[in-house]
Amino acid sequence: MKLLNVLANDGIDKEVFEILKNQQINIDTTHYEKEELLHKINDFDILVVRSATKVDKELIDAMAKGKTKLIIRAGVGLDNIDTAYAAEKNIAVKNTPNSSANAVAELVLGQMFNLARFLNLANITMKQGEWNKKAYTGMELEGKTLGIVGFGRIGQTLAKKALALGMNVIYFDLYPANLENCTSLSLKEVLKNADFISLHTTATEKPVINQETLNYLKPSAFLINASRGNVIDEKALLKALNEQRIAGAALDVFVNEPTPNEELCLHPLCSVTPHIGAATAEAQNRIGKEVLQHILDYLKGNK
Ligand code: MLT
Repeated sequence: MKLLNVLANDGIDKEVFEILKNQQINIDTTHYEKEELLHKINDFDILVVRSATKVDKELIDAMAKGKTKLIIRAGVGLDNIDTAYAAEKNIAVKNTPNSSANAVAELVLGQMFNLARFLNLANITMKQGEWNKKAYTGMELEGKTLGIVGFGRIGQTLAKKALALGMNVIYFDLYPANLENCTSLSLKEVLKNADFISLHTTATEKPVINQETLNYLKPSAFLINASRGNVIDEKALLKALNEQRIAGAALDVFVNEPTPNEELCLHPLCSVTPHIGAATAEAQNRIGKEVLQHILDYLKGNK
């Protein structure tokens, strides 16, 4: 007899899937859309989601009527889960905060090299038959200042890599960290002094980067966001890019995913990726293993 029914509504790492099957755990990786999910959820003890499934009050009510006792977010951000309501209904929520920092930090580094050397633009224009050698004199990262807004696991992982490249690191966080050679400053000072700014806060009610704070950036500064779309006021960013008040931006996250602001996506000074910060085989495998641990812990507690 299977001990536990788990629904991984947005999929799960293959290796972890096999391990779970061998643990007498019934794991279903079918993706159910909202209406069907509301009916199906009764069959499952645990729901595992990535960002595609929105766990709202309606879904939590359906869970509370059935036997679902645990929601696991295979990822860091919990903004697609109504965690307060889940707590009210006695449904536990876990995430996997330890797994994706390296993948996100590497994506940001990639975008920093890209922005510094016009890789994205040079690639597009060359495919269009242009040879713009003179237009793409870039800069080196060594000796430049990286400003990190939000200095948790991802921010600190990025900082270590930037230091290894010979960059200076300044950061803003409500809770200063104890990381050597990184200087804690106010948000304004970080934005004013950085050549590259990378955002690593959780989803915020009001955008951290708005019309006012964008004015602090140097005209030569590049802005990178691999945290959550609503950390930036996209209209204000578009305006700043149109007026060339900053040098460029790289965005992995958007307010309206998966149909982001088209003007922003098509903007020549903006390099875009479809929320792939954690999308490496290694990170997904680590995330899967953190999910597995949560499931096994649950099983232990319920035997
Ligand atoms: C996360 O919160 O872990 C990342 O944004 C990755 C994702 O949701 O795809």
